[in-house]
Amino acid sequence: MEVVIKPAQETARLAADAIVALIDAKPDAVLGLATGSSPLGVYDELAKRHRAGEVSFAGVSAFLLDEYVGLAQEHPQRYRNVILTELVDRIDLDPARVHGPDGLAQDIPLACARYEQAIVDAGGVDLQLLGIGTDGHIGFNEPGSSLASRTRIKTLTGQTRVDNARFFDDDVDRVPHHCLTQGLATISAARHIVLLAQGGGKAEAVHQMVEGPVSAMWPASILQHHPHVSVLLDEGAAARLQLGDYYRQAFQAKPEWQGL
Ligand code: GLP
Repeated sequence: MEVVIKPAQETARLAADAIVALIDAKPDAVLGLATGSSPLGVYDELAKRHRAGEVSFAGVSAFLLDEYVGLAQEHPQRYRNVILTELVDRIDLDPARVHGPDGLAQDIPLACARYEQAIVDAGGVDLQLLGIGTDGHIGFNEPGSSLASRTRIKTLTGQTRVDNARFFDDDVDRVPHHCLTQGLATISAARHIVLLAQGGGKAEAVHQMVEGPVSAMWPASILQHHPHVSVLLDEGAAARLQLGDYYRQAFQAKPEWQGL
């Protein structure tokens, strides 16, 4: 894992640089998109670069990490709608090429299996953006998730529902109990993973992910097994890291041509 500790805006620029470089090299790249507040700076940066004519997403396709079960098509917090508003509507990415698990499917296991197949058929995810929950979840893989899991239905923890109540008028009762999420093995199949975290509320989860034992209790720790993970943190999210100074020195000394 590469850990980069910089102000949030700078980490957003670094992530956007990696995405633009990927699309330059591979105009039909497959992106993995995440909802939540952590990647919003990246989406702003991508929209800005698109407006400046620096990047086109016309050939790109995208897969979402997760989706709430049961939210109506038009519900603003349906993750597909969130990603359209936050990113897709601001760039030239064709909404028809943006795929997400179907939280309204009648046959949920079938919908999950089809989603897995769709990712494979697209050639796999080239670059996956991720946030991390305060309990160490990625996607909606809550503590206890199988490290080998694939897309499936999960029950959200009370903590995650409380964390996400801010998107539902601060009313935790309106946060769905269930979601469909790419599994930890699905996420791990992406070729490059770029995880962003900001603020002290994420510090313990980040420490466990990077420096703790690999354990289903901290699902993001599975990323220690991945050969190409970039962890982009602000000072708050990095506050609990044991090797913070080493990560800072390593990034400072890094040859620029390497990118993320
Ligand atoms: C949500 C999402 C995750 C996200 C996480 C952190 O539950 N399912 O994909 O990474 O919470 O959210 P935020 O980035 O808003 O802190």
